[in-house]
Amino acid sequence: MEIIILKDAECVADMGGELVAELLRVSPASVLGLATGGTQLALYRKLVDKHRSGGVSFRQATTFNLDEYLGVTTDNPQSYRAYMQRELFDHVDIDPDRTFLPTCAAGQNPVLVGPDYEKKITAAGGIDLQVLGIGVNGHIGFNEPSSSLNSRTRVKTLTRQTVEDNSRLFDTGEFQPRLAVTMGIATIMDARRILMLATGANKAAAVARMVEGPVTSMCPASILQMHERVTVLLDEAAAESLQNRDYYDWTHQQNESLKARFGRSHDV
Ligand code: F6R
Repeated sequence: MEIIILKDAECVADMGGELVAELLRVSPASVLGLATGGTQLALYRKLVDKHRSGGVSFRQATTFNLDEYLGVTTDNPQSYRAYMQRELFDHVDIDPDRTFLPTCAAGQNPVLVGPDYEKKITAAGGIDLQVLGIGVNGHIGFNEPSSSLNSRTRVKTLTRQTVEDNSRLFDTGEFQPRLAVTMGIATIMDARRILMLATGANKAAAVARMVEGPVTSMCPASILQMHERVTVLLDEAAAESLQNRDYYDWTHQQNESLKARFGRSHDV
């Protein structure tokens, strides 16, 4: 894992945005795996700004989101489809027909959504770069603790904690889903590169378990230790419980000087 610790959430979004934009400049037809949530808002703002200033085009890109709530229609502002339209898709030149979420249409059997989504990802050639956030409980996508490390896209029940963490986004009395369709952990691990963003002190314990803890289904993000190409961008607050901090900073310095000498092309 490449661990990069930056001053604040703004710097995390800056570097994350540049990494995604650079990939699209080098390989415009890339397949991106995308996440929703509070952490990614700043990332999407950066990408929209870059697009407006001519710094990135999504014209040939394809996207697959990690997850979508069950029981919430796509026109509901709480749906992850609505989030993606609002925060990114409506503001860039992406082809709407190449933006995918694991949405279960009204009347569709939710059990069939996962295998169908997997087929679509395979048909697109697999995911080149998967963007991830991390839950306070170590989840990635909606793969909650105890999820099979070998899981594929399927229906998952959210933990009480995840429901509680996300309740701030729902009005009192508004229907809040307890079920979602999420890419599985094996689906995420198939991505050729992974970019994890985590900011804020409430993520520090989960980040430490992900990076320095044992690989365990009780912290699904810890499986990323087994992936050969993961970049983790953290702000100071999210990095505060890491024991090996010195080494990550030192490694980052070495990588930066390698990049200065040999260019960035090995990195995208
Ligand atoms: C959302 C997703 C989740 C979030 C995680 C962090 O698509 O996959 O795993 O990335 O819950 O959410 P925030 O950024 O809101 O703390």
